[in-house]
Amino acid sequence: MSRIAYVNGRYVPHNDAMVHVEDRGYQFADGVYEVAAVIGGKLIDEDPHLDRLDRSLRELRIAAPMARPALKVVMREIVRRNRLKTGLVYLQVTRGVARRDHPFPKNATPALVVTAKRLSMPGQKAVEDGVKIITIPDIRWERCDIKTVALLPNVLGKQKARESGAFEAWQVRDGQVTEGTSTNAWIITRDGELVTREASNAILNGITRLTILKLAKQEGLHFSERSFSVEEARLAREAFISSATSFVTPVTQVDDQVIGNGKAGSFTLKLREVYQNYMMSEGATA
Ligand code: PDD
Repeated sequence: MSRIAYVNGRYVPHNDAMVHVEDRGYQFADGVYEVAAVIGGKLIDEDPHLDRLDRSLRELRIAAPMARPALKVVMREIVRRNRLKTGLVYLQVTRGVARRDHPFPKNATPALVVTAKRLSMPGQKAVEDGVKIITIPDIRWERCDIKTVALLPNVLGKQKARESGAFEAWQVRDGQVTEGTSTNAWIITRDGELVTREASNAILNGITRLTILKLAKQEGLHFSERSFSVEEARLAREAFISSATSFVTPVTQVDDQVIGNGKAGSFTLKLREVYQNYMMSEGATA
């Protein structure tokens, strides 16, 4: 079955999904995006993702392409038309198409693209083996809280990770880990404290991050939102990354330092299970 994409008002075969060469997303990275997981054919944390989309749009003064109920219809229609069970929905809004000039165009209409991608869940062994992380300098701008499509530092960082045989790169500013190139960063200290950096302009406030914090609270786990250094990460008992596509993924190596015994730790595996149960139940919307 061929993939279907939504592009500016039309559902089209994915291979024919095109935007104009003067789309400002293409020329200036003048746009924002969201990635939401789909599990069992249902969108996970749909409203929190749309809340963050609204915020990103507001911060960049891009008009909403349509009202939320209509946007939900499009997202669900993309899930339905692609017969998507497990994967993700990608949604992108740019300031629109206009003759190339830096200031905001007067009459551009925001451009909306929604696509779907199938993904398979990693097996238990891959989860237990965990992933390797490298650390790199954070060379990004000062508004990492906005989910913009301007991702060049993230792309370069991820490529460096892959070339180093790692899955992800943790970006470091002033000796402190900010976040991964497409994930939030977490550690569990030797004292059993769950730690992730506080939300600020220095990181993207992950929807998965927020849900994990909510679940940790419900489970009565000891957690703290604060920054941590590379050294603290190296000495951590456990570590993991989170995102809409990686959920809770154990980290078993940071640079040349093996974390714990080199296998996913019990705290992380428990959180992954709690998060997966959440996705199967209350996190999912039709
Ligand atoms: N990335 N930090 C960055 C820089 C990200 O790009 C992402 C998400 C996250 C985690 O956010 P969330 O939990 O809402 O997915 C943190 C998406 C998945 C991507 O770019 O593909």
